[in-house]
Amino acid sequence: MVGWFSRLVVATTVRMPKWFVRWVSRRYVAGASLEDAVRVMKRLSSEGACFTVDVLGEEISTLDEATFFLEEYLRVMDAINEHQLDANLSIKPTAFGLLIDSKAGMANIRTLVERAAKHGMFVRLDMEDHRVTTDTIEAVLELHSEGITNVGTVLQGRLHRTLDDIQHLEAQLAGNADYRICKGIYLEPETISHTSRSDIINATNDAITSMFKAGAYVGVATHDQPVVDHTLSVLQEMRMGPGLEDPRPNAGKARPNKGPGYEFQMLLGVRGPLRRKLLAEGHRTRVYVPYGEKWYEYSIRRLKENPTIGVHVAKAFLMPWTNRP
Ligand code: FDA
Repeated sequence: MVGWFSRLVVATTVRMPKWFVRWVSRRYVAGASLEDAVRVMKRLSSEGACFTVDVLGEEISTLDEATFFLEEYLRVMDAINEHQLDANLSIKPTAFGLLIDSKAGMANIRTLVERAAKHGMFVRLDMEDHRVTTDTIEAVLELHSEGITNVGTVLQGRLHRTLDDIQHLEAQLAGNADYRICKGIYLEPETISHTSRSDIINATNDAITSMFKAGAYVGVATHDQPVVDHTLSVLQEMRMGPGLEDPRPNAGKARPNKGPGYEFQMLLGVRGPLRRKLLAEGHRTRVYVPYGEKWYEYSIRRLKENPTIGVHVAKAFLMPWTNRP
């Protein structure tokens, strides 16, 4: 259950003037422009981090709006190449039209992923709320069945269906499945989702184990110590780790610009010391870098979607030393 304090912080923040929301979101959002994102990535490159770039946007209401995202991501690809950044792309399938017209949305996603393939770049389909879980997974499977393999999805530990989804993807892609696994930001109904913190952690950890066992590439997206610790213990058990070749007999093919079967992923501005520790230990660690004109809408939506973020906002505000970027 979300505490009253967190709800209060969220309720207060969303009523604050835009400059205040900008102040709060500054650490989590690179800025309004692609140039801002490039500047942040160049700065963090010196730590040894790699990146995934997200163009901020809301669910679109007409297909024409998808053109903006398509064109902006093409610009992102050019910038990544020009500045020789170690980065790939994260996209929201609904911003490409998947919920308005699944065929047209799919065509937009295909165009982008094919263009990315020409640059040797990977595209991650972010996972949105439960309305699009199945369509997002099926989009990845469809592309793989067409031989377009530089694409993977995200699964959310909190959803009851996740272990079944891993089996479904394993049956189609074997070790070539390429996941991001996270707890899930959307507060889903309890009929389809775990709701307590410990259940969500346990379910996420079970999903991580299952992905590693299936030979998949596993991007563990978390800032939570019990999930990091679980991942480290699975790695040890499987004799995987920094500098080691992936020893799993069922491992998928080695991926260009990826880690030895796994990587950690973290959000820009969150738990920098943990990120630097993982990097110093040699783990490939990817930072999710959102940018865009829609930073205000994005920040407000994230706060409303999951009021538990209110606790982090308050902590970052009152005790900035606990959460240095
Ligand atoms: P938890 O929320 O318990 O955080 C652990 C600690 O990290 C906190 O105690 C705090 O110190 C710090 N922290 C976490 N979030 C913070 C914040 N916003 N501000 C300040 N401190 C914070 N979800 C989804 O549904 N679909 C998706 O596609 C993605 N994609 C994605 C990519 C990446 C790279 C990450 C890291 C996360 C996502 N997520 C996501 C979000 C994810 O599902 C989850 O909601 C958040 O990562 C928070 O969960 P943690 O595991 O970090 O634990």
